[in-house]
Amino acid sequence: MTMATTSTAHFLTLIVLLQTYIMYGDANRWLAIFNINALGLASIDNPDTCERLPGLVNKQVSVCKRNLEVMDSVSLGASLAIHECQNQFANRRWNCTTVLTGPVFGRVLENGTREAAFVHAISAAGVAHSVTRSCSSGDLQKCGCDRTVAGASNDGFMWSGCSDNIAFGVLFSKTFVDAREKKGKVPLNRQLMNLHNNEAGRRAIETNMRIECKCHGVSGSCEMKTCWKAMPNFKEVGMMLKEKFDGATEVQQRRIGSRRQLVPVNPTFKPHTVNDLVYLTPSPDFCEYDLGVGSMGTHGRECNRTSKAIDGCELLCCGRGHNTHVETVVERCSCKFHWCCYVK
Ligand SMILES: *[C@@H]1O[C@H](CO)[C@@H](O)[C@H](O)[C@H]1NC(C)=O
Ligand SMILES: *[C@@H]1O[C@H](CO)[C@@H](O)[C@H](O)[C@H]1NC(C)=O
Ligand SMILES: *[C@@H]1O[C@H](CO)[C@@H](O)[C@H](O)[C@H]1NC(C)=O
Repeated sequence: MTMATTSTAHFLTLIVLLQTYIMYGDANRWLAIFNINALGLASIDNPDTCERLPGLVNKQVSVCKRNLEVMDSVSLGASLAIHECQNQFANRRWNCTTVLTGPVFGRVLENGTREAAFVHAISAAGVAHSVTRSCSSGDLQKCGCDRTVAGASNDGFMWSGCSDNIAFGVLFSKTFVDAREKKGKVPLNRQLMNLHNNEAGRRAIETNMRIECKCHGVSGSCEMKTCWKAMPNFKEVGMMLKEKFDGATEVQQRRIGSRRQLVPVNPTFKPHTVNDLVYLTPSPDFCEYDLGVGSMGTHGRECNRTSKAIDGCELLCCGRGHNTHVETVVERCSCKFHWCCYVK
């Protein structure tokens, strides 16, 4: 009897939690999967877990159940994305702060801003990257290396037969991340925006695959070279997407023939490509604390006195002025005294 009551209580708590997500949430609610530890889990390893993961739509739950072994990589991909977002935005007013309740980034993604565009792109890329990495490491049954790139190359090396299987990672990211957008719940223009940016994120990996090689032969001679196609590391993906963020195009939805498309608001601008980020709504200024728009404000942030860019005191502090602290930092360094007479 007591047990039944307790589990009813738990059930009700769960419902209340889920409703919070649904009320404030947005297409990237699934990012909460980055922190499965918060659910007391070390791994997503049984189908019931899929139901307990916060922020998934039904379709994502069923992808989860059918692909249990891939889900830890999805979780890792989400934390890669969040971490890299914080890296790339460390000096901006909005710095990718995560919040403890509700959607990972608070309400900042509710409107179709540049920030939302970036988060979509980097998250879709994070999943593709992480899943591909797991394929190459042999951690998954469903996929392995891309062995279609094989044999002798025209450039005088042998393909190793273990290239990164980016096609699998990209397809999985499409299936899982884009699943949210198919439902009629998201307004059409936002749906088009999200799908476009998800794809642009994955393309930042696909279009920047490179060839890595290893030499074989006596004492480091390179008599034989084997090479494979490798993904750029995720920091580079973050940098490329940050550039796309800086150059993002403001778009609106238009019916062209029988299809609805996103076209630049300003027709004199160069049209965006599939690799570019697009947004629908200008961003708030993020100067003041206002959780209603997902802004933490910039009070108390450290700014750069000599910079004229967004990390400079004028812009970061929104013209409110700033205090200067002088700190003396004593550091041990590996200095060497050279005869005679200088220190390096
Ligand atoms: C979304 O945009 C509208 C119109 O610009 C604004 O009133 C609203 O506060 C914004 N909401 C969020 C969560 O940023
Ligand atoms: C982002 O800025 C807030 C204040 O606006 C600060 O509390 C937080 O530590 C910063 N987060 C990161 C990841 O830099
Ligand atoms: C501050 O800005 C200047 C000029 O942009 C730059 O050279 C310097 O590295 C920045 N300092 C820090 C601590 O970021």
